[in-house]
Amino acid sequence: MLVQETSLKDEIMRLKKEKDVIILAHNYQIPDVQDVADFTGDSLGLSRQAAKASQKTILFCGVHFMAETAAIICPDKKVLIPDLQAGCSLSDSITINELRNWKKQHPGAITVGYVNTTAEIKSELDYCCTSANAVNVVKAIPADKEILFLPDMFLGSYVAKVTGRKNMFIWAGECHVHAGIKPEDITKKLDSLKDAEFVIHPECSCTTPMMYDVASGSFDGKRVSILSTEGMLNHVSNSKAKNFVVATETGILYKMRQQNPGKTFIPASEKAECQYMKMITLKKVYDSLVQEKNQVIVPKEIADKARLAIERMLTIS
Ligand code: 13P
Ligand code: SF4
Repeated sequence: MLVQETSLKDEIMRLKKEKDVIILAHNYQIPDVQDVADFTGDSLGLSRQAAKASQKTILFCGVHFMAETAAIICPDKKVLIPDLQAGCSLSDSITINELRNWKKQHPGAITVGYVNTTAEIKSELDYCCTSANAVNVVKAIPADKEILFLPDMFLGSYVAKVTGRKNMFIWAGECHVHAGIKPEDITKKLDSLKDAEFVIHPECSCTTPMMYDVASGSFDGKRVSILSTEGMLNHVSNSKAKNFVVATETGILYKMRQQNPGKTFIPASEKAECQYMKMITLKKVYDSLVQEKNQVIVPKEIADKARLAIERMLTIS
């Protein structure tokens, strides 16, 4: 098994060079897939890597909306995904008709959509954002403009709280993985690891109550940071703390442990696994490289409309 996997990895490394392919992998991918990637990162970082890639093919190890974003940014490249069925419950939480109706109810409002949306939804947006730059995207919009923020309600509430924005309407969507991380999971873990710092993804259902707890001082001096996946990785490396409770998909623990061998990381919830991210296996990466199959194609009229919102996202850090 081990030998087979090693040779599969070697073959992937050889093939990607031979075929001029760049492999991008999200921080939630399984360790074997992260190991063969040229870059690992969060949604924003991977979009940036796609935009500046010199290779003619991008093999995107992540979920479908991420590969679609790469295909929109790089219309002249071939974008492949190892499994076309790797979806996202958050991006499924708003349909194009729901968005169009919502916009009709708020004429003149600026639409800000999380990158976790389909290409069709993005084609109806003014701005796209990720967890890493959502606050700054909202800050860039004139204060007198109404904002429709979609689809994640926890990220939306977090952004509204941080920016103090009152004229922001938030879609009631959620990611089932992050919504499943409850405040009680965190309290239990923090109690068991007394001097731990706590890092939390803004999609988590515990973000909102946690912000109030932090504000009211009920964390008793514990340090809490609300960050994107790449923001978490940077934070834990730079922090002097030795122990961390991590509230996001458990795939991120691989890189955290690899980059910080002297530190301890425990997941806020062991059950926080995204089955869509885990659909990407080493064998599927290999197959899609060999056969150049599972191309992600975004129709030109949708891609051309969606590109503006994505380019705005890429210019705001
Ligand atoms: P990041 O942009 O923080 O990587 O998050 C993407 C995502 O899908 C979170 O579930
Ligand atoms: Fe989508 Fe949630 Fe999976 Fe991220 S963790 S890809 S938001 S379902």
